[in-house]
Amino acid sequence: MDTKIWEIRTEQLKDRTTEEKMKEIRTALEYGEVIGIPTETVYGLAGDARNPEAIHKIFAAKNRPGDNPLIVHIYSMDQLEDFTEPLDMKVRTLMRHFWPGPISFILPLKGSMLASNTVAELDSVAVRMPSHPVGHAILEKVGFPLAAPSANLSGKPSPTDYSHVIDDLNGKVYGVVASDPATYGLESTVLDCTQFPYRIARPGSITKGALENVLKETVSKHEGSAEKPIAPGMKYKHYAPRQPMAVIEGGLRSNTHLRVEEGQKVGVIAPEAVRNHVPEHAYFISLCSGEDDYREAGRNLYAALRKMDKSDVDLIYIHGFPKSEETEAVMNRIYKATGNEIIREDPK
Ligand code: TXA
Ligand code: MG
Repeated sequence: MDTKIWEIRTEQLKDRTTEEKMKEIRTALEYGEVIGIPTETVYGLAGDARNPEAIHKIFAAKNRPGDNPLIVHIYSMDQLEDFTEPLDMKVRTLMRHFWPGPISFILPLKGSMLASNTVAELDSVAVRMPSHPVGHAILEKVGFPLAAPSANLSGKPSPTDYSHVIDDLNGKVYGVVASDPATYGLESTVLDCTQFPYRIARPGSITKGALENVLKETVSKHEGSAEKPIAPGMKYKHYAPRQPMAVIEGGLRSNTHLRVEEGQKVGVIAPEAVRNHVPEHAYFISLCSGEDDYREAGRNLYAALRKMDKSDVDLIYIHGFPKSEETEAVMNRIYKATGNEIIREDPK
């Protein structure tokens, strides 16, 4: 099966031809097909959250373990009345502040409107309202909630551009919307609101501090344990290129010694600003301009990992950023991608 590609850039949203494409997309989703759609975090693989067959297709195309629940995407808070318990005032405040945007809320599930495989048989559901103009317009046109995990093969880096979706899922899904690249590039913050204090189940661009500022109370950062995380997805290996990879803790410096075996080709992912410390023989991919351009690093990380994966390097080193609230999400993904392989400078 050939995967259909609809090109809808943000600036084309008002075009007459876009209206036709939107109708085709809606019809396909109504019939239980699954489609790659743009969001501001990463591209999602969307299907009707009420239709168990559509959800089955999502799990099958990604090769995703069935115990890992999907995030349900909406365009209006009113849609929540159909499938979540009445919202707590505090949740409502957070939604009003951060939506549409890169945060998902885990809420108590109500009724049986959603397919049980959407939520992996749990009694809670994660929901998000994306801000990407095209993603948002698709949700509005469709009218029903769309379940959408990241549109990558399970274990691979999430797709930040439609070309990544095609690389992973061509021939396995009905269609892909070719739109603008993701502006954040890291998956949403996942906040568990099923108990107090609320807990961050997956760090993202919206930080603990930002949430506490709005809530005026403490948010816990407890992500659960490695074996039993709050978000089941956090226990799986993620975001990884095929080669072994290690993070250079403290960042790439003039005296960093990158261990390389005889005959091995090394790849280095680091800010442009430290390029002068990259060994001459290495394949360099720039992650961002300056050493504290964390947002840019987040936006470029997955594309860099995918490029390394396709290259002929045998092992990869990646620049580590200093620990802070702003670097938490990007470092969380880097550590996951390396399987916690770290190199530290020799003290001598
Ligand atoms: O930015 C994003 O969140 C992207 C875009 C497409 O919206 N989606 C995304 O979905 O990253 P996915 O499936 O790759 O990650 C969803 C995470 C997983 O770790 C999953 O275990 C967790 O959210 N999750 C979903 N529903 C949950 C629930 N009811 N309870 C606990 N964790 C849940
Ligand atoms: Mg994912």
